[in-house]
Amino acid sequence: MPTITVPLPTTPYTIHLTELSRIGELVRPLIPGRRLVVVSNPVIFGHYGEPLVASLRAAGYTVTTCLIPPGERFKTLKTLQTIHDHCHQTRIDRQSGVIALGGGVVGDLTGFAAATWLRGVAVIQVPTSLLAMVDASIGGKTGVNTPQGKNLVGAFHQPRCVLIDPTVLATLPSREWRSGLAEVIKYGVIWDKDLFTLLEHVPHLARQPKVPPEILMELLTRSAQAKAEVVSKDEKESGLRALLNYGHTIGHAIETATHYRTYTHGEAVGLGMKAAGQLAARLGIWSDSDAARQAALIAAAGLPTQFPHLDPDVLMQLMQGDKKVQNDHVRFILPTTLGHATLHDRVNPDEVRAVLQELVSKGDQKS
Ligand SMILES: NC(=O)c1ccc[n+]([C@@H]2O[C@H](COP(=O)([O-])OP(=O)(O)OC[C@H]3O[C@@H](n4cnc5c(N)ncnc54)[C@H](O)[C@@H]3O)[C@@H](O)[C@H]2O)c1
Ligand SMILES: [Zn+2]
Repeated sequence: MPTITVPLPTTPYTIHLTELSRIGELVRPLIPGRRLVVVSNPVIFGHYGEPLVASLRAAGYTVTTCLIPPGERFKTLKTLQTIHDHCHQTRIDRQSGVIALGGGVVGDLTGFAAATWLRGVAVIQVPTSLLAMVDASIGGKTGVNTPQGKNLVGAFHQPRCVLIDPTVLATLPSREWRSGLAEVIKYGVIWDKDLFTLLEHVPHLARQPKVPPEILMELLTRSAQAKAEVVSKDEKESGLRALLNYGHTIGHAIETATHYRTYTHGEAVGLGMKAAGQLAARLGIWSDSDAARQAALIAAAGLPTQFPHLDPDVLMQLMQGDKKVQNDHVRFILPTTLGHATLHDRVNPDEVRAVLQELVSKGDQKS
């Protein structure tokens, strides 16, 4: 089974692509104490809790579980408090550890609970959604949402290891699968051309049960490798890590303009990548044919391709983050060739507006 190293200078760790039931033997050398808390939600724990806990108990741990309600709206300080309370009741000390079994919501919350309990205890990430496997569980960003905004309160806290069991994706809702594919496509465009080409050749990409296990393994390995490489070269997000925001500038604006109700994060990122690709082609830094290949792949992944009826000026304002600055230059990650992208600080807002206008009006015609 493949492993990937995240070679951070002070806290290197391994991503294991293997069966859930191996968790006990993998954790044993990493967490010396006897007590562990597994944090999950009832749905995911119902599917996978038993083999996970059994494996940890067989490795000699005393295991308790802390279940939190599913959903982004519970990624709050209040839920964090619930996890801290559980750590207190079960006497989690610095020799003990916390296991996150779930999607990005469980992973971010549990990681932040581990970062803050006793000023930091060990956390193991066991991601169960595609997005968490290829993105959220790797790189050590943890946090919660507050009334001020998403992920504004948090900490960098690297896991001791990450265990990815691809078979758990069998129960992932199909919309979540397609949304996660947006981040996989992102790695193909910004970092790994072979991954992009591989994705183009997956029959029935949008339907997870139809993707052959060996291809699924390759998609996961390449994506996790891309994230691991980027974060280990830039742990605290000063430069290179910004590449991971490809498709996110416009994507976030779409999520905000639609009040996080219409699109999942991945769906908005898919639209954002389409727009960024078109912008790069318009500016002459990316070929029309590569931009068209990207658009075709986004469609093959079952992600929305038609832009919603949104005012391009509203999107521009959201991207610039300040309603007063109408004509400021916007920061964009733009592809130059497949597998390579660069940061552009001074994109002319008129060019961005023109691309948005075109996409919005095309969306209108079709709807
Ligand atoms: N820390 C980071 O670097 C980072 C990066 C990207 C995203 N995130 C965060 O991740 C979160 C989104 O993560 P997500 O997309 O995984 O959402 P999520 O955690 O809400 O999971 C999506 C849904 O799928 C369900 N689910 C997950 N795995 C399942 C499985 N195997 N079987 C059945 N159901 C399953 C969950 O219960 C949930 O209902 C956001 O809060 C985002 O901010 C963090
Ligand atoms: Zn994202």
